[in-house]
Amino acid sequence: PPPPPPGPLANDSSKLVNDAAHPYQPLKDGDQRGPCPALNTLASHGYLPRNGIATPVQIVNAVQEGFNLENSFARFLVYSTFLVNGNPITNLMSIGAASPLTGPNPPAPATVAGLNTHNNCEGDTSMTRADAYFGDNHSFNETRFQNLVKYSNLYGNGKYNYTVAARLREYLINDSIANNPQFTLVSPRLFTAFAESVFPVNFFIDGRDKSGQLDLDVARSFFQNMTFPKDFYRRDGAVSNVGQDVVTDYCQFKPGYNAKGVNSFIVDPTSATLDQPCVRYTNFVNGLIKSLYPNPTGVLKEALNTNLQYLYEATVASGDGCTQVFPYGQ
Ligand code: HEM
Ligand code: MG
Repeated sequence: PPPPPPGPLANDSSKLVNDAAHPYQPLKDGDQRGPCPALNTLASHGYLPRNGIATPVQIVNAVQEGFNLENSFARFLVYSTFLVNGNPITNLMSIGAASPLTGPNPPAPATVAGLNTHNNCEGDTSMTRADAYFGDNHSFNETRFQNLVKYSNLYGNGKYNYTVAARLREYLINDSIANNPQFTLVSPRLFTAFAESVFPVNFFIDGRDKSGQLDLDVARSFFQNMTFPKDFYRRDGAVSNVGQDVVTDYCQFKPGYNAKGVNSFIVDPTSATLDQPCVRYTNFVNGLIKSLYPNPTGVLKEALNTNLQYLYEATVASGDGCTQVFPYGQ
């Protein structure tokens, strides 16, 4: 069975992470990179396998070691993406597109197509990647980065901070409502969209700098170049989505989608809202996972149950107090 995820770091103080043991190396043919600037960077510096194919344990270790992401949050993020986008039999996931390196796929309707997969964790209104409707949901997009620059200039004196995060998120949502006929922002993507807005402030600022203001060259280093800045120290002390309330309070967004083309946004009452983590967990397991794996047997069923157990344990560790659900029996 897949091994359990690691616990928190023994020492979560700030330290040099762009060190001699983890040099940046350019991509080789076939290496995978995808929509997440943090995982891309960790792979390019060897905190993750440089080919971009990794196990859940490797990803939890890498986001803790390289960025100081809090343990229970890291575990939830990793298992919720792995259960949809990873291969439960080989225990491997691509941080980008589907890859033969994750091994033979389980039977359809399972997809196992890597983190580029639309509408699980990846979804609309990304800061530096286009909506999937426009064709490429994972490559760095300069036009969108320039929006981040513009909002940082307007509301952050040329730096990206929580105030900028809130204004930019509102803009990105309105922009997708107005231009993407297939725009949707519901659970589970809803949760990652709002958390990712504050991640650059929480994790991309050097640990010795307590200003809460992210320099835009540093932002570009992560978002586009997949590189730690020279001499980069990780943040001091593990943290998750602190600051997100600044964004949610400002946006007052209710999950929903464009029902009939652009500018036809309606609220989706079946989606978990941001204050309903257990509805998110239950619907994810009984809805999405069950639809991808309707009747697993043997090793596949065992692996799914083990990963579902790790997902549930992450909700317990986060203090959410959800009731465990068992789509494949106990
Ligand atoms: C997107 C940062 C961990 C999967 C993003 C984005 C940021 C970010 C800033 C938004 C990119 C954009 O909007 O253009 C981070 C940081 C992490 C972290 C700082 C750890 C400290 C993870 C983990 C996973 C993950 C553990 C899954 C295993 C993704 C995916 C997206 C994404 C699938 C695309 C979502 C979208 O459509 O915007 N990440 N991430 N990330 N991240 Fe991460
Ligand atoms: Mg996206």
